[in-house]
Amino acid sequence: MPRLDVCAFAELPDGSARVVHAGSVSVGVYNLGGELYALEDRCSHDDGPLAEGELDAEAGVAVCPRHGARIDIRSGRPLTLPAVLPVATFPVSVEEDRIVVELDT
Ligand code: FES
Repeated sequence: MPRLDVCAFAELPDGSARVVHAGSVSVGVYNLGGELYALEDRCSHDDGPLAEGELDAEAGVAVCPRHGARIDIRSGRPLTLPAVLPVATFPVSVEEDRIVVELDT
């Protein structure tokens, strides 16, 4: 399983997001209250770049900048239309102070 080095844990503070790229896949990595989450940075409605939209860190929601779907960052599930399908999520961990995402591609 390919592993993607994101950044040092300290470089992704609480309430922030960062996008990393692995070939044709872009992954948004989020810090919500010290817990890390990673989901494909591609809205399931029409490929909107989720991490470029509004981040509601308190609710754990990414708002798609293209048509406004609200995506639950923890589960990848859409909370509002027009997205109806989940966004892919990936395991993320901290190893020796580095954030690492495991891709299943
Ligand atoms: S592309 Fe995200 S809501 Fe349409």
